[in-house]
Amino acid sequence: MSPNLERMIRQERPASYRSSPFFADGRAMRIPPPKTVSADSPRLPPTVREGLAEGRYLDRIPLTINQALLERGHDRFDIYCAACHGLIGNGDSPVADHMTLRRPPSLLSSEVRSYPPGRIYRAVYQGYGLMPSYAHELSVEERWAVVAYVQALELSQRVPIDALPRVLRQRIHETLP
Ligand code: HEC
Repeated sequence: MSPNLERMIRQERPASYRSSPFFADGRAMRIPPPKTVSADSPRLPPTVREGLAEGRYLDRIPLTINQALLERGHDRFDIYCAACHGLIGNGDSPVADHMTLRRPPSLLSSEVRSYPPGRIYRAVYQGYGLMPSYAHELSVEERWAVVAYVQALELSQRVPIDALPRVLRQRIHETLP
């Protein structure tokens, strides 16, 4: 290894969230200067980026929900969430079978269904308990797309027949005993 690289690896440096005598306020980490713009979709309002309005979870998805958003959410969900929560979100997955400490919950349970969308967004954005954050893998729009897709999964498992379009209702009556 070159001596320069060696010096960089072994340099003195404070650890995140620890104290450091280097700065006057004794903190190792710096507060961003005023008017700093977030690198996380800076054009979107903070409520959309944070999933919170006045400290409360957003109670609706703040983006326009259309076919494209749902398809993006479906694609991202299958890649980033299904491994643990299962392809239909019911918590049934080979990974879940091995996570004995805390099993990834079903996202179709009445508890999770009662969550405001902002709470699901926050779980993806910040992580939740043993679940890591997916903020680096998913942009703000993609996180909301995943939330929309989770809602679609919830609906797909318990939509009242009367709420379906007539063609589908007819098909159900023809196929179900
Ligand atoms: C590595 C496995 C894993 C992956 C991947 C994963 N989760 Fe989780 N998730 C968990 C576990 C475990 C918990 C429960 C954590 C706890 O209670 O400590 C959880 C909890 C949750 C909760 C409940 C949060 C609450 O407030 O109660 C939601 C919603 C959720 N996950 C959604 C998602 C979504 C959406 C994705 C994809 C972006 C995802 N998870 C990816 C393992 C995972």
